[in-house]
Amino acid sequence: MIRMKSNLTYLKKPDLFKVLNQHQDSFFAVIDEAVREHLPDWVKNSKKVFWLKNPEASKNLATFGEVIGFFLDQGISRSSMLFAIGGGATTDLAGFVAASILRGISWTSVPTTLLAVVDGSIGGKVAVNMPQGKNLVGAFHAPEKVCICYDFLSSLSKVEWDSGKGEVLKYGFLSTKISEMILKRESLELIAHECCEFKQKIVEKDFKEEGERIFLNLGHTLGHAFESNLKIPHGVAVAMGIKYLLKVFSQSELLVEWEKLADSLGISLEETNLSHYPEFSVDKFKSYMLQDKKKNQTSIRLVLLNKVGSCYVQEIKFQDFLKKIEANEDFKS
Ligand SMILES: NC(=O)c1ccc[n+]([C@@H]2O[C@H](COP(=O)([O-])OP(=O)(O)OC[C@H]3O[C@@H](n4cnc5c(N)ncnc54)[C@H](O)[C@@H]3O)[C@@H](O)[C@H]2O)c1
Repeated sequence: MIRMKSNLTYLKKPDLFKVLNQHQDSFFAVIDEAVREHLPDWVKNSKKVFWLKNPEASKNLATFGEVIGFFLDQGISRSSMLFAIGGGATTDLAGFVAASILRGISWTSVPTTLLAVVDGSIGGKVAVNMPQGKNLVGAFHAPEKVCICYDFLSSLSKVEWDSGKGEVLKYGFLSTKISEMILKRESLELIAHECCEFKQKIVEKDFKEEGERIFLNLGHTLGHAFESNLKIPHGVAVAMGIKYLLKVFSQSELLVEWEKLADSLGISLEETNLSHYPEFSVDKFKSYMLQDKKKNQTSIRLVLLNKVGSCYVQEIKFQDFLKKIEANEDFKS
C-alpha cells in the first residue's frame, strides 16, 4: 500500500509569493483567470502560464493535450515545478498534466475555492472528464505541496461559498470533532483547516482508495446525479446527496443533524429541497445513475452512516436502490 506524507502548508499571500519566487527558474503553471488579480506581476506576465477561462469546461482531454503541447513548446523539463492555481477543476486538470507530462513531474497545488481547499486539492486524485461522465480518465499523483492560502477566498461568489460549505457539511458527518465545531459556529477558516487535516490523514493511510478513503464519497452517488440533473454546484449537490440518502434510508434522527449542520453553516435549506426544483425529472435522475455506474455492474457500494463519525459501506443491488428511491415521497413527480 502506498503511504503519503503530509504536504499541507497554510500560509498568507506574502509567504505564498515567496514560495512562487523561490521556484521562478523552474516555474510552470496552469491558473484560473478568475484569480489573476490575486497574483504577483511576474506571474501575471509569465510566458509559462496556461490560463483557464472556464475551468470545468476545460477539464477534458482536448485542453489536456493543449496544455501539454504549450508546456513542451515552452521548454518544460523533468526538474520543472508545475503550479496549479485555482479551484478543483484547475487542480484536477493541472495535476493530471503533471502526472503525465515527461512521465510525471512535481507539482504544487494552490486551491482558491473553499471546495478545493477542503477537498479537491488534497489527496492527489487527478482527472479530466469524458463525454461519458466525470473524472473518467486520470491518475493518482500526489502534489509535492498543497499551499493553502485563505486570502484567495475573498473574491468567491456566494454560489461558490455555498458549494464549499456543502463539502464541509459532509465532513460534519464524517468527524464528530468537525460536527461540534460547525454546531458551535466556529470560524469557517478553523473548520476548513480541520477538514483538510481530516482528509489528509485518511489519504495518508489509503492513498489509492482501497479502504477507508471511500468514506469521503459520502453523498456522492446521489450527489453526482443531482449535480448533472439540476446543474447545481458540486458541493451543494453533495449536501443534497447526503440529505436524500438519509431520507431514502429513513434515518430521521440523522436528518435532524443534517438540518442543524446546514443551518449552522448557513446553507439555504430551501434550495436543498427537491421541491425547490420544479424541473426535476426522476427519470433523467435515474438514467444518469444508470449511466454513471460501471458497465455490467449489478450492485453498487454505498457509503452509509451509523451515526455522526461512523460510516460503513454497503453493497446494494442497483435495482433495489432505484426501487427505494422511487418509493420515497420526495422523488414522486
Ligand atoms: N480530486 C479530488 O479529490 C476532487 C474532490 C472534489 C472535487 N473535485 C473536482 O473539483 C471540481 C469542483 O471544484 P470547484 O468547486 O473549486 O470548481 P471550479 O474549479 O470550477 O471553480 C468554481 C468557480 O470558481 C471560480 N473561482 C476559482 N477561484 C476563485 C476565486 N478565488 N475567486 C473567484 N472565483 C474563483 C472558477 O473560475 C469557477 O468559475 C470538480 O471538477 C470536481 O470534480 C476533485
